[in-house]
Amino acid sequence: MPDILIPHDSIAGLFFYERTTHPQDIVEDSVKKQHPDIKRIIFLIGFMGSGKSTIGPILANTIGYSFIDLDAAIEHREGKKINEIFAEHGEQFFRSIERELLEEIAASAHKTIISLGGGTVANEGTLRYVKATGIVVYLKIGEEQIYKRLHAKGDRPMLRDENGNLLNGEPLMAKIRALLDKRTPYYDQADIIMHTDDKKIGMTIDELTKHLRGLIEP
Ligand code: S3P
Repeated sequence: MPDILIPHDSIAGLFFYERTTHPQDIVEDSVKKQHPDIKRIIFLIGFMGSGKSTIGPILANTIGYSFIDLDAAIEHREGKKINEIFAEHGEQFFRSIERELLEEIAASAHKTIISLGGGTVANEGTLRYVKATGIVVYLKIGEEQIYKRLHAKGDRPMLRDENGNLLNGEPLMAKIRALLDKRTPYYDQADIIMHTDDKKIGMTIDELTKHLRGLIEP
């Protein structure tokens, strides 16, 4: 919540500042008092290709929230594509800036949907953090759909082999399965699980809007 410093007194030429709140925060605080669990941030999670970056901005527009894509924010901050960050610095480095930027963005986010990368919550610490900070929505799709959506794309470093070569066919499917197996126990702890496999985007948005009513700040 942004604090505004207002000078309210002056002694011997020195200003004293009193912490006060923005009028909008007072309205939000009263909403929060009536509904203590209400949240101001929605985190979209799910495997690569699950539609987080497509559904996120449409959902945000529908419910009057802002939208931020964490991967895009990382690329902007680093001045490099995700592929280049992985190739030059490795996954560990990516994970540390991913977590750092996530907290930075969430700290000042207000009525915002934040779309996370497929691996962001695949650890207890970050999962706990997002669950405590906002409503977590998991866009769930099956391995066949993931394969269909991603096999022709070269922009996912996690779907390359150890030499950085693109995977395809059975090796790609095996990689998707292995990552999905590892990550599903984390994804499944979301507050809302939305199956998107054979759903039109409009239907997903409608259902999510209904589920979110009462859980988020209007
Ligand atoms: C990753 C998913 C990507 C991106 C990075 C790592 C992962 O995001 O964060 O390539 O580990 O699953 P998307 O899920 O938006 O593709």
